[in-house]
Amino acid sequence: MSVAKKEYKRITTKTLVDMKKKGEKISMLTAYDYTMAKIVDSAGIDVILVGDSASNVMAGHETTLPITLDQMIYHAASVIRAVERSLVVVDLPFGSYQSDPKEALRSSIRIMKESGAHAVKLEGGKEIKESIKRILNAGIPVMGHLGLTPQSIYKFGTYTVRAKEEEEAEKLKEDALFLERIGCFAIVLEKVPAKLAAEVAQSLTIPIIGIGAGSGADGQVLVTHDMLGMTHEFNPRFLRRYLDLYSDMSNAFQQYIKDVKSGDFPSDKEQY
Ligand code: KIV
Repeated sequence: MSVAKKEYKRITTKTLVDMKKKGEKISMLTAYDYTMAKIVDSAGIDVILVGDSASNVMAGHETTLPITLDQMIYHAASVIRAVERSLVVVDLPFGSYQSDPKEALRSSIRIMKESGAHAVKLEGGKEIKESIKRILNAGIPVMGHLGLTPQSIYKFGTYTVRAKEEEEAEKLKEDALFLERIGCFAIVLEKVPAKLAAEVAQSLTIPIIGIGAGSGADGQVLVTHDMLGMTHEFNPRFLRRYLDLYSDMSNAFQQYIKDVKSGDFPSDKEQY
């Protein structure tokens, strides 16, 4: 059991800000289903993100755009049933908050009410300020997401590193400060230069959680299926694989098939 796990019985948005104050790094991973969430939560993770990356890893879509609000709520409710300690943050999917602040609030309320989640995350800065304010005014904690924002992939045209140029870096810094000022409790910074992420983390009091944003962030997030090596075709530089589950699972499946075909399974002890 980790030190952090003993110290914090239940992680809240306030816990994360306190962790930043103490210089304690924040760990965050994705989960989309009960079984995975149970393992991740009991391992002692601080934050579980029910990410719209479910669109890719669970449903096989090329982008995060197709996943619906109903589908996100289904994933989030499954995760919540497993979790005892982690803070559970749920992505507002593409199309559920961009058109107007009332819709953003309605979508967030549905997530909180129907899944039991603890907070929502949405992509963007000043351009979605009215939506963020409305959600916050309803008492729903909001995590921001800047840098590479996959819901805008067709605007960017590529998944390469963002904010390498001065102008975009300045806008990102302004957006981060703005999100803090209006009341977001944390911000995900995706695929931006490490120096920029460190600068943002140092200038803000709320935690910056990085993915492909270097070691200067206040915490790190990875997609669980990627760090477990289940998605072996995805190989960005920032990804550290802790297992090669694709190979291990494939070997196990092949062995099972062999055992069934040969009549080796079930044995006398494996039947009634
Ligand atoms: O959807 C997701 O998994 C995310 C992370 C990559 C931060 O937003």
